[in-house]
Amino acid sequence: CDKQEGKPPRQRLLVVANRLPVSAVRRGEDSWSLEISAGGLVSALLGVNDFEARWIGWAGVNVPDEVGQKALTEALAEKRCIPVFLDEEIVHQYYNGYCNNILWPLFHYLGLPQEDRLATTRSFQSQFAAYKKANQMFADVVNKHYEEGDVVWCHDYHLMFLPKCLKDHNRKMKVGWFLHTPFPSSEIHRTLPSRSELLRSVLAADLVGFHTYDYARHFVSACTRILGLEGTPEGVEDQGKLTRVAAFPIGIDSDRFIRALKTAEVQVRIEELKDRFKGRKVMLGVDRLDMIKGIPQKILAFEKFLEENTDWRDKVVLLQIAVPTRTDVPEYQKLTSQVHEIVGRINGRFGTLTTVPIHHLDRSLDFPALCALYAVTDVALVTSLRDGMNLVSYEFVACQDAKKGVLILSEFAGAAQSLGAGALLVNPWNITEVAKSIERALKMGAEEREKRHWHNFLHVTTHTAQEWAETFVSELNDTVVEAELRIRQ
Ligand code: G6P
Repeated sequence: CDKQEGKPPRQRLLVVANRLPVSAVRRGEDSWSLEISAGGLVSALLGVNDFEARWIGWAGVNVPDEVGQKALTEALAEKRCIPVFLDEEIVHQYYNGYCNNILWPLFHYLGLPQEDRLATTRSFQSQFAAYKKANQMFADVVNKHYEEGDVVWCHDYHLMFLPKCLKDHNRKMKVGWFLHTPFPSSEIHRTLPSRSELLRSVLAADLVGFHTYDYARHFVSACTRILGLEGTPEGVEDQGKLTRVAAFPIGIDSDRFIRALKTAEVQVRIEELKDRFKGRKVMLGVDRLDMIKGIPQKILAFEKFLEENTDWRDKVVLLQIAVPTRTDVPEYQKLTSQVHEIVGRINGRFGTLTTVPIHHLDRSLDFPALCALYAVTDVALVTSLRDGMNLVSYEFVACQDAKKGVLILSEFAGAAQSLGAGALLVNPWNITEVAKSIERALKMGAEEREKRHWHNFLHVTTHTAQEWAETFVSELNDTVVEAELRIRQ
């Protein structure tokens, strides 16, 4: 605890998420290097500073030997991270299987993978068993590090079973659970064979949070329709026990981006990029290479724009950063080939000996390079088919102080509810509409761009990750106090 004179000790927080903010790469028998992990959850939580926080999660590697486990535990301790060691079989069934082949597509309204539908149905039980086992392994690590008064904050669809495991062990533990994806309509959730068990496990938490009011509403109606429980304005009630359910829209650490833009390193990169793309408007997509991000649809919309706007062909370039993710899951492998095929075809069709319309990178960029790219962009394309929130849209806005570029944003991203008035909203499935929005964005006058930008900039700089975490944790503390008072009455 922070024992500085005159200052109250900071709230101890155990953040539990499937993935740690750093992924480990083995360099030798007992030596490791750590790299920042990708994804919205990590980028938001890295912006949360005001707690005495420890992060518990999987380091993204299989470490079967004790020497390796000990060395990695020590390396992670310096980053206030505590590893959960999962073996290959568990990772295969729990992470690749139940989490990313079943829950992820279902929560994003994509259904089960078409070709594997029957195989997935057959392996369902064993994957669900592995899911529960993995969640219990996370719980064991939490129990080992828990101190009375700690707030335990569980994150995301990987850990829906965790609140129950924790409360079964210690009813007094303050447990919150937050979902970073959409929670789908109850009509979708009810197709899950494990629908009731998952809902009941989540309801063991004291506070359950979502990015938007709609996701919270879907969750409450799943509990009322599937479990027959009572939904109240505060949440869900089961035999006198209330689980608070509410929306807590996430944000980013906008200052980190704004500060980075002023550094010499980023300024040099900005000048290089300006030089590189002189005379052309820059359009940008930054996504994990995931089917929910709608990358093929986005590129097809860009192709349509080029088809219909011949005068723009040598005046615009689309930079698509596609960070590889979940590469052991067959659906993701298929997506990679599909995207490469489409990009190759369009570049063959519209490219010249010296330029191509699409620059596609299958890798992540370091932070300064990313900030510079955001800063030189004229039009950002965030066209997810579904997305819990989408923080790339926030990061882009934070870096656009000079340029005041246009954000084209999917109406199916949670961010549409916060940045909708400043962005051009599109249905990403409608390629014609997206192509028209590209044209509108490229031709938009300075006055309109400025107005739209300020609307979004104000939101992004005032609704930060820090504020999000503080609100959630203080709400969780209040919820627990109120529940105790109710019991005493
Ligand atoms: C999304 C999820 C996160 C996840 C991230 C990266 O943002 O909500 O929980 O960590 O994707 O995915 P990965 O499977 O690589 O952890």
